[in-house]
Amino acid sequence: MQSKKLKNLFTIFFALIIFSSCTRDYIVPDPPAAPPAPPSPTENKISYSVEIQPIFTAKCVRCHGVGQVAPVLASGSSYQSLMSTSGMIDTVTPANSILYKEMLPPDGGMVQYGSTKANSDSVYKWIRQGAKNN
Ligand code: HEC
Repeated sequence: MQSKKLKNLFTIFFALIIFSSCTRDYIVPDPPAAPPAPPSPTENKISYSVEIQPIFTAKCVRCHGVGQVAPVLASGSSYQSLMSTSGMIDTVTPANSILYKEMLPPDGGMVQYGSTKANSDSVYKWIRQGAKNN
């Protein structure tokens, strides 16, 4: 008698476990994406004038010169031009910056004009470091 009761209890117990485990793992919302890691203290500091502007001067100003296609990327005007265009530079989420996305291989629109992964990496770091006019 006692053991039959126990058996029944076990059956119910397992039924509950199975039932609850079936219902437990549906609709688990994805956890929010982790925020991008802050720059490591050892990350090389990117200088706008030394590393970013020369990319523009070499590969971009023939089209993005003063009075040509926006954004103006000519030396002396580029920083102001980039900063005053909404969405162009996003220091909160650097990967959303239009400038970065346009330069990032393989799909960036400006890759066909010679923007490389190294170029877009420099731009990414520069933005992540606060997009300073340094
Ligand atoms: C042969 C001409 C040409 C060259 C070279 C060129 N671009 Fe462009 N760029 C354009 C044109 C035209 C547009 C606008 C249409 C488009 O998005 O394709 C544009 C658009 C852009 C945009 C997007 C603007 C917006 O508001 O969405 C960015 C950013 C950009 N270029 C950056 C660059 C960078 C950085 C380089 C150099 C690595 C570069 N471009 C080289 C012609 C050029």
